[in-house]
Amino acid sequence: MCGIVGYAGYRQAAPILIEGLSKLEYRGYDSAGICVHTQDAFHVAKSKGRLQILSDKTDGGNAVQGVVGIGHTRWATHGAPSDINSHPHLSESGKIAIVHNGIIENESRLREELEAKGITFRSETDTEVVATMIGIQYDQSGDLVDAVRQTIARLEGSYALGILCVDDPDRIVAVKKNSPLIFGFGEGENYIASDVPAILKHTQTVAYLNDGEMVVFDSQNVSFFDADGNPIEKAKETITWSISAAERGGYDHFMLKEIFEQPKALRDTIGPRLKDGKVYLDGIDLSEEYLKSLNKITFVACGSAYYAAGVAKYIIEKYCRITTEIMMASEFRYCDPVLDEKSLVIAISQSGETADTLEAVREAKRRGARTLGIINVVGSAIAKAADQTIYTCAGPEIAVATTKGFTTQLAVVYLLTMHMAKTLGKVDDTTYAAWVTALEKLPDQAAELLTEARVEEVKNYAKRLTKHNNAFYIGRNLDGATCLEGSLKLKEVAYIHSECYPAGELKHGPLSLIEEGYMVVALATIRELFDKTIANVREVRARGADVLCVTLEELADEAAKQAQSVIAVPSTDPMIQPSLNIIPLQLLGYYIAVNRGCDVDKPRNLAKSVTVE
Ligand code: G6P
Repeated sequence: MCGIVGYAGYRQAAPILIEGLSKLEYRGYDSAGICVHTQDAFHVAKSKGRLQILSDKTDGGNAVQGVVGIGHTRWATHGAPSDINSHPHLSESGKIAIVHNGIIENESRLREELEAKGITFRSETDTEVVATMIGIQYDQSGDLVDAVRQTIARLEGSYALGILCVDDPDRIVAVKKNSPLIFGFGEGENYIASDVPAILKHTQTVAYLNDGEMVVFDSQNVSFFDADGNPIEKAKETITWSISAAERGGYDHFMLKEIFEQPKALRDTIGPRLKDGKVYLDGIDLSEEYLKSLNKITFVACGSAYYAAGVAKYIIEKYCRITTEIMMASEFRYCDPVLDEKSLVIAISQSGETADTLEAVREAKRRGARTLGIINVVGSAIAKAADQTIYTCAGPEIAVATTKGFTTQLAVVYLLTMHMAKTLGKVDDTTYAAWVTALEKLPDQAAELLTEARVEEVKNYAKRLTKHNNAFYIGRNLDGATCLEGSLKLKEVAYIHSECYPAGELKHGPLSLIEEGYMVVALATIRELFDKTIANVREVRARGADVLCVTLEELADEAAKQAQSVIAVPSTDPMIQPSLNIIPLQLLGYYIAVNRGCDVDKPRNLAKSVTVE
C-alpha cells in the first residue's frame, strides 16, 4: 500500500506533492510526509495522521521552498503510525532521502547487520534501513545511481522507491519491484507516482515501469534502465480518464459517487462486448477445443473480488458445466493446488496489484495452468502477469470499499459465462438471446435503483438499522453469494459486526446468536427458493431480529408479511440478478456508515490496494 509521488520541475514542488498525495490517500492514510531540496539542504516535513495535518503544518506546501521533491502517504507495516515512522526517511549521513511503498522482507537481517556496524536507527521502518544502505554505498562511491543499484540487489520483497540525494539537487531516482510506479512526462517538469490520479492534473502522458526498471530524471531529462542497468526506451501511454473521474464532483464521498457511477461503468464494460446479439471478448482465446479440454476452472481473488468469483462459480457450473472452484488468493499460494495444463486459473482484481492475487497467478503459471485476469487497472501487475486479460471498464475507483469495481467484475463474469456456454453448445438460442437482452438492459435497471425515491427508501431503512451492533446477511444460492458482498460493505465502512450465512445453514449454529438487537438482511430474489428463505426470515423474526428483506417487485407483498421492511428490486434474468440486488446493499452499508459518523472513504485499518501479503 502507501502512495508515493515525486516532482522535478520549475514550479514549487511541495504544493504539487501535497495535492498529488491527496489523490493517493486511498492507498494509506495514517501519516504523510514530503522532502524538498531547499538550497543545499533537505526540507523534510512529516506528521502522523491524515494528510490535512501535513498540509496545515506547511500551509498547503507553500511554506516549503524548492522545485524538486518527493512525498508519501503511509499505511503502516513496520512500526506504528507516528511522526518518526512517517516517510521520507533519511540515511544516517542525512544525504539520502527516500519514500517507499512495499515491504522489505529481509529487513530484520539487514537491520541487524547494520546495527552490528554501530548504526542506530531512529524509526522502526524497513524504509530507514534502505535509506541507510543507499547512504553507505553513496558515501563510498559518490554515485547515487550505483548506490541504489547496489542496495536493491540486496533487497527481498516489494518496493517502489523515490530517492533524493542532497548533493544532486536536480535529480530524482526511482525504481520498483512488485509495487506500482508510473512516470509522468511534462513540459519542463516530470513526475513519478504510485498511481495515475496523483499526476493526472498535470499530465496524461505516462510510462509504466516494470519490475526491476529504474528511472533517473530531472526537469528536462529522463533516462530509463532495465534491471541490468542497460538504457531502455519506454513507450509513452496516454491516459484517457478525465480529471473529474478522479475527483468527488459534488458527492459527499467517493463511495457514493462510485455507487452512482455504476450504470455508466456497466455500460462501458458491457457495451463494446455485445454486438449483433452476441458476446465478443476481443483478443481472448477460449476455443471450443480448449474449453472442452479443461478439467476445472479455479478463481483466485481477495475481498470483494473473491465474492465476485463466488457468483462466477454458481453460474459457470450451472450454465457451462465446468467444475469451478474459488480460492482466496492468500490461501491458494500455500495450499499446494492441484493444477496442470488442463486448468484455467482466473484472477479477479480491481487494482491489479493485490500481492496475494499476483502471486497466485505466478504460482498457477509455474504449475502449468493457463491464466486469465479480470482487471480494472490497465497495465497493472496482474494484467501483465496473466496470459490474457479482460478489462472491467469501471474507471478509477478511489473509495477503499469497492462498488463499481465489483459490479463491473460481475458483468465480465456474465460475459465470460455466456461466451463459454455458447462456445461449448450448452445454451439454447432462446436463453442466450434472453441473456443478451438482460445484459443490454442492466445499466438502465441499475440507474432505476439509483433514482431519488429508491435511494431515499434505503436511507430511511438505514436510519432505523443504524442502532444495531450486530448483523446477519442471509440468502441462498446466488442470493447467498451476493449477501457476502453486502455484509462486507457494512463491516468495512460502518464497523458493524456482520456475518453472512447461506440461509439454510442458520440452524446449524448461528441461529443461537439471534436475539433482539440483531439486524438481519435477507436476500430472497430467486423464485424457486423464495419460500425457503422466507421461512428463515420467520425463524429469525421469531427470535427478535429486525429484518430487512430484499426481494423482487412481484414478491414484495409476500415478503412484507414476514419481514419488518422490504426493498423491492426490478427483476432480470436470474444469472444477472446479483448485479441489481447488490445496489441497495451498497447503499445500506454506506448510509449506516454515514449515520454512525464513520470515515466512509477511508475506513480504519484498511487500504484499497493491498500490496503486501
Ligand atoms: C482491499 C479492498 C477491497 C478489495 C480487495 C481486493 O481489501 O479494500 O475493496 O476487494 O482489496 O482488491 P483488488 O484490487 O484485488 O480487487
